[in-house]
This record gives sequence, C-alpha cells and structure tokens, in this order.
Amino acid sequence: MEKTQKYISQHNSRFLEELMNLLRIPSISADPKYKENVMDCAVALKEGFDKMGLDKTEVITTNGHPIVYGEKIVDINLPTILIYGHYDVQPADPLDLWHSDPFDPQIKKTEIHPEGAIFARGACDDKGQMFMHVKAIESMIMEKELSCNVKLMIEGEEEIGSENLGFFVQENKEKLKADIILVSDTGMLANDVPSITTGLRGLSYVEIEVTGPNRDLHSGLYGGCVANPINILNKMIASLQDENNQITIPGFYDKVLVLSSEERNEMAKAPFSEQKYCAALDIDAVVGEKEYSTMERGSIRPSLDVNGIWGGYIGEGAKTVIPSKANAKISMRLVPNQDPDEITELFKTHFESIAPKGVSVEVKPHHGAHPSVTPIDSIGYKAASMAYEKTFAKKPIPVRSGGSIPIVAMFEKELGLKTILMGFGLDSDAIHSPNEHYGVFNFKKGIQTIPYFFKYFRELNTK
Ligand code: BES
Ligand code: MN
Ligand code: MN
Repeated sequence: MEKTQKYISQHNSRFLEELMNLLRIPSISADPKYKENVMDCAVALKEGFDKMGLDKTEVITTNGHPIVYGEKIVDINLPTILIYGHYDVQPADPLDLWHSDPFDPQIKKTEIHPEGAIFARGACDDKGQMFMHVKAIESMIMEKELSCNVKLMIEGEEEIGSENLGFFVQENKEKLKADIILVSDTGMLANDVPSITTGLRGLSYVEIEVTGPNRDLHSGLYGGCVANPINILNKMIASLQDENNQITIPGFYDKVLVLSSEERNEMAKAPFSEQKYCAALDIDAVVGEKEYSTMERGSIRPSLDVNGIWGGYIGEGAKTVIPSKANAKISMRLVPNQDPDEITELFKTHFESIAPKGVSVEVKPHHGAHPSVTPIDSIGYKAASMAYEKTFAKKPIPVRSGGSIPIVAMFEKELGLKTILMGFGLDSDAIHSPNEHYGVFNFKKGIQTIPYFFKYFRELNTK
C-alpha cells in the first residue's frame, strides 16, 4: 500500500479541487427545479469514473434521478467490494443563515478543524465522503495495488428515500453481486476517537392534516364555539408522549429489541460528555426517555419528532382568525425489529382514533426505512477495524447511530449482504443544516484508510 499512500499524498490537493467542482453543482434531489443539476452531477461523476479507468461506467436513468455505476474486476477469484454512496444533497435553506454560498465551496479553519474544512451543502453528506472512495480507488488503480474487485454505485435519491434504487437493486442482483458493501455516509466520535457505525435507525414519516370548519372564521364571532384545528392538532401531538417521554401509540414498542445490560454497559464505554453536548447546542439540559442515556436515546431507542407544523395566520401583525386547517410532518426513528410499514399503520390508526368530535383527521404516509445492524465479529468489521488502527494508530470503537440510510436494510434483504459503515464525518459538521462542512483532515484520512480496508478484507478472506 506504500505506493498508493504516496500517490494520495501527492495528489491530495487535486482531489480536493475535484471535490469542490462536484460541490458547485446543486444536486438537490427533493426539489424538481434542480432536476438538470442532479443529472449534471451524475454525468460529471461518470466522466471521472472513465478517466480513472473504471469499466462498464454508466449513468443509469430511473423513474427519478439517475444512478452512476462503474467497476473494476481485477480477478474473478478475488473478493468483490460494492461501494455505495449518494451524490444528491439536501436543500440548502434557510439560505440567510449560511456564512458563504452553499454551492460555492470555501475552505475555512475552525476550532475542531484546525487544518480547515470545506463549507458547502453536501461537503460531508455525502459528496465529500463518497468521493473519498472514488479517489482511493483511483489511487489503487494507478499504482496497481487494487487488491479486491470493486463495484461503485452512487445514487441521486438517498435524501428522498432511495425508492428507485430499491427497484434497481431488486432487478440487478447479478450485476451487483459482491462479498461486502462499503459505505461512508455516517460519522465518527472525534478526529482522535475513531469509531465504526454498527447500526442505523429506521424511519416512518407521516404528514397530518386536521380540518375543522369549512373556512377560516372570525375568532371573535366563533372563538369558544368551534374546534380550532391548530389547538386540537397540538393537543393530539402532545399526547403522543407521556411524562417519561415514552411514545404512547399502542403497540409501538412491541417489537423493539431490548439490549442486554452487558451490551448497554459496553455502549456506555464510548466517551460522551453531556456538558460538551449541551454546550455545542446551546441548551441547558438534555431531554429524553426516562432510564436511558443520551447515547442510547439517540441510537438503540426509537423516537418521535414533529419536523414541521403550519396553519393559520403567520404574517405581519395580528389577524383574528380561527383557521380551517392545521398540518404537521412527523418522523419516527425506528430500531430493530420495528417495521416502518407496521409503525406507520399503528400511528395512523391511533392518531385517527384520538381525533375529537368537531374535526376530521387525515394521515398520509411518506417514505420509510428499515433499521439495520452490523455484527462486530464479521470479517468485514474486522477489516475495517484493522484499517482504522493502521491510519489512526487507535482501535476504533463500535457505535450505533441514530440516522437512517434506507438502502442498507434493502441490501441485506435483496443481496444478502451486510454493510460496513466507515463514516468519517463529525456530528458538528452540520449535515442538513446551514454551514455544512467537512474536515480536510477527514477527507484525506478517509482516502488513506479505505485502501487498507481492501488489503485486510482480501487477507482475511483468503485465510
Ligand atoms: N448520511 C445520512 C444518514 C446518517 C448521517 C446516518 C449521520 C448516520 C450518521 C443520510 O444522508 C440521511 O440524511 N438520511 C436520511 C434518510 C431519509 C431521507 C430517508 C435521514 O436519516 O433522515
Ligand atoms: Mn447521507
Ligand atoms: Mn442526509
């Protein structure tokens, strides 16, 4: 791997420039206005694949945004690694909270990133992390040190639920045949505390509409006489959690896998400072389910949150009105063995059942995701652990994460493959938020670490 590592050091500034070029393309999957930009980004990626010598490169169109594919089969007897990532990004709003243009990447130093960080939408989630694989593979190809076969599949719809990729995977099992899946789209504990993500939460997402009177009413003439949809919606939402911050939907916890006290003790060994956590968010206390730590609340326990709520008059000054409608979007993060469709159904049944007289309630389901876990006694985990140990000079800690990557459970179901989540982002990188950034250190460290995964995965497989 020495030649590869040398190549990485020599070409790192070009790698950064190429990443910045990708970050300049606003590939926002959620907003149809950006459809062409999403395509441009796919094409740019594919051109890069061609340049570095990948075979069978393709921009695969779907009913949504395209998938970019490329592969390098060095020897059919060697293990094959399937790399997954996404080139689509979240919308950048609220724009006025960005200190620089979200699609004009700038490198700035921060306290946590003294070597500088790239500020742009998608810098960490996931263009920066996905691109580490592209450049690690380029380096291995150029130096003839590619030790496993590799297939790269980079999609453009992760941030909107990966539905079309799901169909593609179902229909292309032979093409995607591999021994392991490798993804960098998660985080680690700190730049000097490497960790590997061993689990992701699932997701159930619903949109609610509460309808009262057939038109907005004068709040003086009708106030006190009819149900106000906003008042009702708030009461209904408030009732979804009890005084211990447990979710009150009947059956919600039935399938939740309870961790042994041994496993919980093991988890508690990961370094965590509640004080630093609060300070980073400017809050004076953490809040969550009774009897669980903050780390547990955000990973092995499910949660329910309102993501948005609207209705009535929110313009300048006061308008005395009882609105006809009130709406909310709610996400539920799920853990093994909860099923997103079942949870959505439980939510719908319960929420409709608690609607009082005087209003009608409609619950519309959105995309979902199944939770997933990766065992730490597998060859894939061991290879990743050895790779981190090589480049960080520290054994990484296994950590379960609270986020979701919908395709991971699908890979397991359809391809029978586990995913190794080698994430190099930090919680403070502000993914999905204004001023998203990714450390220059993290970008380089990722490119350096990935080739060792290839090396150790091959070695452990031939033992
Ligand atoms: N990369 C994130 C998920 C993530 C981030 C997992 C950090 C673990 C640590 C991914 O792009 C994401 O945002 N996923 C969505 C999924 C949804 C749109 C179906 C999420 O978690 O909200
Ligand atoms: Mn992501
Ligand atoms: Mn994301």
